[in-house]
This record gives sequence, C-alpha cells and structure tokens, in this order.
Amino acid sequence: MVADPGVTAVAYPNIALIKYWGKRDEHQAIPWADSLSITLDVFPTTTTVCLDSAAEADRVTFGGTPARGAASRRVAAFLDLVRKHAGRSESAVVSTRNAGPTGAGLASSASGFAALARAAVAAYGLELDAADLSRLARRGSGSAARSIFGGFALWHAGEDDHSSYAERVDVEFDPAVVIALVDGAPKRISSRAAMRRTVETSPLYRSWIESSRADLAEMTEALARNDLAVVGEIAERNALGMHATMLAARPAVRYLTAPTLGVLDSVAVLRSENVPAYATMDAGPNVKVLCRPGDADQVALRMRETVPCCSTVIARRGPGVTLRIEEER
Ligand code: DP6
Repeated sequence: MVADPGVTAVAYPNIALIKYWGKRDEHQAIPWADSLSITLDVFPTTTTVCLDSAAEADRVTFGGTPARGAASRRVAAFLDLVRKHAGRSESAVVSTRNAGPTGAGLASSASGFAALARAAVAAYGLELDAADLSRLARRGSGSAARSIFGGFALWHAGEDDHSSYAERVDVEFDPAVVIALVDGAPKRISSRAAMRRTVETSPLYRSWIESSRADLAEMTEALARNDLAVVGEIAERNALGMHATMLAARPAVRYLTAPTLGVLDSVAVLRSENVPAYATMDAGPNVKVLCRPGDADQVALRMRETVPCCSTVIARRGPGVTLRIEEER
C-alpha cells in the first residue's frame, strides 16, 4: 500500500552556452569550471514521489515502464542522499515522464534530476532554499543544478559540496532557441563516461578549460548588453571547443554526425545572409540554434529544408522548477 498521495514537480531542460564538461570530484559532482545556461520552455519532466513505508526498496518508472539496472540505481542513490539529509528511511515510489526524447543530448537528466530533487525534498519534508536545492540536484546530474532556475543560470564550479551550486543570472536577454532534432535515439556513451574519458585522456582538455573560463567572462558582459551576436559567437566556439576535446580523447568520443554538420553548415550560410544564428551542441547529435525570436521560423524552415532528417522545435527561455503539491491536493 502506498501511504501518501505524493508530490509532483515539473522542471525544464537547460542548454549551456558555456559548457560543463568534466569533474574534478566525481563522487560529489564538482566540475572543473563554471558553466552558464538558459532554461527552456519545452520538453519538461514531470516527476511524482510517494513515500511507501511498507516497501523494502524504491520503485521507479520512466514513462510508465519500470526502470532497471543503472538507471534505477542512480535514482535510488539520489533518494538515499535525500533520506540521509532528512533523517528518514521510507522507500519511495517515483514516476517520471519526459515530454521530450530521453538521453539524446537534450538535457533530460537536467530536467529529470531537478524535478526529482524538488519532489523528493517535499515528500521527505525537507525545506531547502534554491541554492541548497541546486547543490542537491547537482549530485543527481551536474547540469540539473542549473535547471532549478528559470531564465539564465550560472553554476559556480566551487571546490566542495558547499561552494558548488548554481544561481539565477538576472538578465533580460530572451533569444529563440531552435532545436534541430536529427536523431532522438539514446546516446551510445553517457555524458558521465564520456566526460571522464575526456578529462583522463584528452591532451586538449586543460586548454579548453582555460579558454572556457575566459569565454564565461566575455559571455557575462555580452548577456548584460543583450548582444546576440557576441553571445552566439562565444556559445558556438565554446561548444565546438568542448567537442574538440572529446574528439582528442583516447579513444575518441564523437557525438556529432553527418546531419549535425549539415545543420552547422546551414547556420553558417544563414549568417552569411545576415541572419544572426549560432549553434551549440551537447552530448548528442542534435543542434540548438540561438537566433532572434523574429527569425526563428525562418531558421527552423532552413534547417528542415537543408537537412532531410531534421525536425524542429522552437523554444524560448522557460521557468525554474515548480512543485504541484497545492494543486494536486
Ligand atoms: C554536454 O549533467 O548529463 O550537456 O553530471 O555526469 O550527470 P553528469 O553529466 P550531465 O552533463 C551535461 C553535459 C553537457 C553540457 C552542459 O550541460 O553544461
């Protein structure tokens, strides 16, 4: 018997304009460098956590299907952290649903662990402020630290659990993000394993971290002055640099495919026609294109016309994690 009706949280994916790639402390999820992101208003994750004191173990479903193996252990390990914090011991029933593709480099682990953190904290009766919630979500998946916040968020790398958290960046900047979907299948290598291999074996890693720190300083200024061209240029070079470090890993990690390069070519052609559009890619072949909201339909159409397998979704800046507990009851 499930003892309580549970609490539900909704969180949205975020796309990093300055990337997080590589941890200095894997257990605590402390990254090597700060990162900065925009939370989107599409592809939310909705997660319900119910406590079940009679159950011996946690039960987890993804989109109605029971989770097994590593995915289920990762959720249980995260719930252990919450239980320890709350001084509680009940097992939980977790049902989670992604509106977008899972594990395809579209930040489903970011929205997933942000929603799980918020719902689990409420279910176990903890009261955390936004920074503490970000610290906790970080332990589930690093990028989830940023999905606690709407709009733009900066994750301070820090050096330990306390100093590594994200906070909101208060800027007006409100671009469109055209998601160019070329493949919705789950990736062959997890971002966790891929970033570990990059840190351990890529001779380019250290220099990318240094350039990323410099990119962040320039990016912060460009965001504050609403300068799409500079924000876009920095975001694109930062993402390409991250992928360059992966390509230099041994063995190479390659998420970019022929359709990805097709989208990148089309973005460059648009720029040559004076349409400001800039690409960023994460741990997968899909591309996100930053542009002016008024250009978004044209950008999306161009991607679909030039890359046959491409479908598009237009996103804008979205909200931080929310709890549905009041509405549900
Ligand atoms: C390429 O947050 O998925 O999207 O902390 O190991 O769970 P773990 O990794 P994850 O990595 C995301 C990496 C990225 C860049 C970014 O979001 O900053």
